[in-house]
Amino acid sequence: MEVESVLVTGANRGIGFEFVKQLLRLPKPPHYVFATYRDEKRTQALEEVKEAYKQTQVVLIKMDIEKTNEIEKTKKKIVEESLVIRTKSFD
Ligand SMILES: NC(=O)c1ccc[n+]([C@@H]2O[C@H](COP(=O)([O-])OP(=O)(O)OC[C@H]3O[C@@H](n4cnc5c(N)ncnc54)[C@H](OP(=O)(O)O)[C@@H]3O)[C@@H](O)[C@H]2O)c1
Repeated sequence: MEVESVLVTGANRGIGFEFVKQLLRLPKPPHYVFATYRDEKRTQALEEVKEAYKQTQVVLIKMDIEKTNEIEKTKKKIVEESLVIRTKSFD
């Protein structure tokens, strides 16, 4: 599997967290993994994998899938972050 970017919701624990780790361990990992959580107090495990796998830009985003405004903010953040990363890669 070879992908450019992936959005994983509920990424701070359970199957979502495991999915993030498996993506980062791929022989050709994605350039970006957008990983969502709901509670800032429960992001430690995600922060640790973000630090451990520098090949991928892991972007943590607060999002409850039942909150439309947070979905909209997430959409905006993904576009903005991707543009920043792309700009940097062309420097
Ligand atoms: N585990 C399995 O082997 C397995 C197998 C097949 C299917 N599934 C299905 O896959 C899903 C996840 O399973 P799991 O075992 O990973 O469950 P889990 O350990 O309870 O984790 C659920 C994740 O979803 C997040 N979440 C819950 N409600 C959310 C919402 N409204 N908006 C955004 N994120 C939300 C949780 O965030 P918080 O930490 O903030 O609560 C947590 O990160 C379930 O539907 C389960 O039935 C699981």
